[in-house]
Amino acid sequence: MSIASACDGGRGQPECLVLGIETSCDETGIALYHSHRGLLAHKLYSQGALHAEYGGVVPELASRDHIQRVLPLTLATLRDASCALNDIGLIAYTEGPGLAGALLVGASVACGLAYALGIPAIGIHHLEGHLLSALLSSPAPDFPFVALLVSGGHSQLMKVAAIGDYTLLGDTVDDAAGEAFDKTAQLLGLGYPGGPALAKLAESGNGQRFKLPRPMLNSNDLNFSFSGLKTAVAMLVRNQRDSEASRASEARGVRADATLLADIAASFEAAIAEVLVAKSVAALEQTGLRRLVVAGGVGANRRLRASLSAAVKRRGGEVYYPPLEFCTDNGAMIALAGAMRALKVRDQASESGMENLRFTVKPRWDLQETGDQQRAFPRPAILC
Ligand code: KG4
Ligand code: ZN
Repeated sequence: MSIASACDGGRGQPECLVLGIETSCDETGIALYHSHRGLLAHKLYSQGALHAEYGGVVPELASRDHIQRVLPLTLATLRDASCALNDIGLIAYTEGPGLAGALLVGASVACGLAYALGIPAIGIHHLEGHLLSALLSSPAPDFPFVALLVSGGHSQLMKVAAIGDYTLLGDTVDDAAGEAFDKTAQLLGLGYPGGPALAKLAESGNGQRFKLPRPMLNSNDLNFSFSGLKTAVAMLVRNQRDSEASRASEARGVRADATLLADIAASFEAAIAEVLVAKSVAALEQTGLRRLVVAGGVGANRRLRASLSAAVKRRGGEVYYPPLEFCTDNGAMIALAGAMRALKVRDQASESGMENLRFTVKPRWDLQETGDQQRAFPRPAILC
């Protein structure tokens, strides 16, 4: 069966139940998305605790854990949605970018299952999943929009004209925003993964106390740089710990030290938010668009959300966020992207057999290369 007919429901009506499988890094995400009824069920297993003692993701451990989780989570998701395996019309899996071994787990399970069920499978670009994740919220944004994609591995501004029509407007020249959050959190002794912990600490801090640099704020382009900010925090922490004030606060006990850390966290967050807001507004001005979509793990940050909403509203625009649980990696965004890709090519795709059992993953993959996803559809519909 082709991807086109998987979404035809056999009745000429575009209808499709898509199983989404996300295994690009340290989260196993599974979801069932129905093209008419929306998201039916989803499950997520986070490996955070598994990697915490190493201070970062250990790729081999990630792959092994995905192997154990994918099928039980899939069955549990089917149960939650009151669906059976045979109801699935299409399987969407994250093909890249990400950790090669982790991607291979999702790809091989997706393709094996698709083969067994006689249905198509489609590889999805992880960042496309993030870009489209705001479509899971209500109201959902219409195309075109500017997307601010801020995750652990990426900080990008994209013009999204339609499915598959993505133009890179700006990118980070060094660390991604999430990476800066994680490294700064580590400096503050907050462990891994640090972004959410730093954000929580910052809630009680004074973001005006330390004036940290706003890298590339006035660079006249839409690029970012965050590694200098992390270095500035490292120096600040060292100076503060060495200073008399700090010694005095140590004498007063943990409470004063906690205030210092909260103020550093809040000042760091304020610096990052100011740059992301300024560049996002500039991207809207440059493109003449008024809709901004925020995606990726850092998009869960409350201070960033509040600042972005205020700044974009001031210029008469609107900001759209995915539901909080779909800011970080998840299966729902992959299932949704699969459904949208499939519906888009419904009339173009050709029927084909299941003779081609090869599949690939792309640990490194430029989103703009996905284009019309011609890579996927002229090939046999079972892509594995
Ligand atoms: O999109 P994501 O789940 O994974 C990647 O594709 O990278 O993003 C994970 C990143 C991590 O760096 C994490 O620290 C950061 O998002 N993050 C946050 C928050 N929640 C997650 N950063 C700041 N504030 C948050 N509330
Ligand atoms: Zn991600």
